[in-house]
Amino acid sequence: MQTRIFLIGFMGSGKTTVGSQLARKLAYDFVDMDQMIEDTAGMSVPEIFGELGEEVFRSWEHKILLELCQKERVVVATGGGASCHGTMMSTMNANGVTVYIKLSPSILKDRLTRSRIERPLIRGKSEPELLQYIRTTLEAREVFYNQANYIVDGDKLDPENLAKHLKED
Ligand code: S3P
Repeated sequence: MQTRIFLIGFMGSGKTTVGSQLARKLAYDFVDMDQMIEDTAGMSVPEIFGELGEEVFRSWEHKILLELCQKERVVVATGGGASCHGTMMSTMNANGVTVYIKLSPSILKDRLTRSRIERPLIRGKSEPELLQYIRTTLEAREVFYNQANYIVDGDKLDPENLAKHLKED
């Protein structure tokens, strides 16, 4: 079985929730990339975007990813855009197994509307604007997400089952 598991997918697809459950089932460590960036920077993701800009955030994501590629027995919940910038998707595929948690734009919109997490890329959008943003962005991002080793339905996802499959890998 692979020593590193990277969960990828759009904002609101449940990477953090599934990741922590999966890590528990596998007795692996769990790391949330956004949290690790915030802890390292001493700034929140919205502060990094607002004060330093997205480019800086992406470069920190890349640096953190390279650090995580040195860790053993870890499940990583990546940020929704991490796999879609630079060489991060191929780095993940070269250093572990990637799992794309796939959901439809309308389900993502409902989840993001209900979420309390502040996400700079969707801040201030009305529901129709959010749905349009998800459709357009997801289409562009799926070029990367679809390179994952596994594509799983986020609506029917059972971490126990996923753990079983990954163990057999
Ligand atoms: C982003 C997703 C966020 C966070 C940042 C940018 C993106 O993570 O990394 O706001 O580009 O999709 P989540 O997918 O955990 O919300």
